[in-house]
Amino acid sequence: MTLAIDSSEGGGLLPPVPGPLPGPRSAAKLARLRELVYPGTANHLAPLVIAAKRGYLVDDLDGNTFVDLVSSSASVPLGAGREDLIDPLVEAMRRIGNEDSHGVASEPMVALAEKLLEITPESLTRIDLGLNGTEVVETAVKLMRRATGRPMVLGFLGGYHGETSLTAVLGAEETEISKGIRSMASGFFHAPYPNPYRSPFAPPRAGGSGDSTVDFIRDHLLFHAVDPEEVAGVLIEPILGSGGCVAPSQEFWDALVALCEEYGWLLAVDEVKTGFGRSGEMFAVEKWGIRPDLMCLGKAMGGGVAPIGAVLGSERAMGGYDDVPTGSTWSWLPWACAASLAVIEAFENEPILENVRALEAIGRDKLGAIRDRHPQVGEARAFGGFQALEFVRDRESRERDPELQHLAGAKAAALGILTDSSSTSLNIQPSLSMPPEAFAAALDRIAAAVDQAVTDLGR
Ligand SMILES: Cc1ncc(COP(=O)(O)O)c(C=O)c1O
Repeated sequence: MTLAIDSSEGGGLLPPVPGPLPGPRSAAKLARLRELVYPGTANHLAPLVIAAKRGYLVDDLDGNTFVDLVSSSASVPLGAGREDLIDPLVEAMRRIGNEDSHGVASEPMVALAEKLLEITPESLTRIDLGLNGTEVVETAVKLMRRATGRPMVLGFLGGYHGETSLTAVLGAEETEISKGIRSMASGFFHAPYPNPYRSPFAPPRAGGSGDSTVDFIRDHLLFHAVDPEEVAGVLIEPILGSGGCVAPSQEFWDALVALCEEYGWLLAVDEVKTGFGRSGEMFAVEKWGIRPDLMCLGKAMGGGVAPIGAVLGSERAMGGYDDVPTGSTWSWLPWACAASLAVIEAFENEPILENVRALEAIGRDKLGAIRDRHPQVGEARAFGGFQALEFVRDRESRERDPELQHLAGAKAAALGILTDSSSTSLNIQPSLSMPPEAFAAALDRIAAAVDQAVTDLGR
């Protein structure tokens, strides 16, 4: 098994540091976009316009080359332009073209359903079609309610599940995302995401569930606010993705599973971002041996070349009824299924997960060194190809420092490294097949970016 090299540069060299950003060509296009496009989109774009991508490298219109540590919001798992993912897509596109898979089945659709059920936890025995992560989370919520006949779903503060009215309210990563609509979607209640760095709770009490977040759900939410018999289940990211790469403890999962079993709740996991190797396991639930009732997949499932998502379920969650409409016209296009089959094949044939673990080790080492050097970095986190730095005003108060976070992201871009500083941490999501030595060199530039940002702000 050998790893397909993830860049034409290959050997681990980084491209030269770019000129001032945005370069003149990019600046002209960005200015034009600001005249044309909804400001909520146009005002949040990176300071470049893409000319081409290959592997983990991004070329802009001005001749600059960047190292891509965003991977299109973790939807391009193995770098850009992999012919072995594009070829089967094009072949199926030529042979079949478009088809609404809710009306007419195709051979790639059958093969993909079989394959996904084979590689996901064995509690999952059924699958349904989706176009993207947002859509399958919406479907999962509908299925949870239909399967149990109960209205309420428990979500977690700090989670992210999409931007539609329903998914924005289910998640609560930042108030921005659900501003003005939080009261418009009912049927959800929330507990804080079990974030070891920011838990508002004391250590678990003696005689409780073994985990303080689950104690809070039991002692407060279910006692004062919500009847457990009205709850369909829980929908949770196994590792916070956009929310900064945070993983709950084994105690939390054990206590949550016990809670679900006690009240007959369904446990739904949103693996849209964690799925397909990002966490270092094929699916993040494998880290804790969780057997979910529902699992949402998207993003990397299409290999970075096709939009596709899926929701998988147990017999209880998905087997006993057929009257809930799901998906949309472009869910599971035959060529998107072909691309998804090809990316699964890549995971089967190449030591991708080994490479992810190497990236994790580098992240722990290099991001940990940044944290050790700067008290303004509260935590450095690395779970597989999910990595993050969380910036704080000081280590005692742990007050977030978004200004420093955004400046560190801008400085990294100026040094030719693209990261995601739009949320609650500086998020780093390399291609899972990025050569470790190139990743290490890129993190060295991030270290320099953090140094510069701390100095510039006089922190
Ligand atoms: C955990 C999680 N769920 C759902 C979504 C929504 O997926 P999409 O934007 O591809 O529809 C995202 C997107 O970032 C996500 O990170």
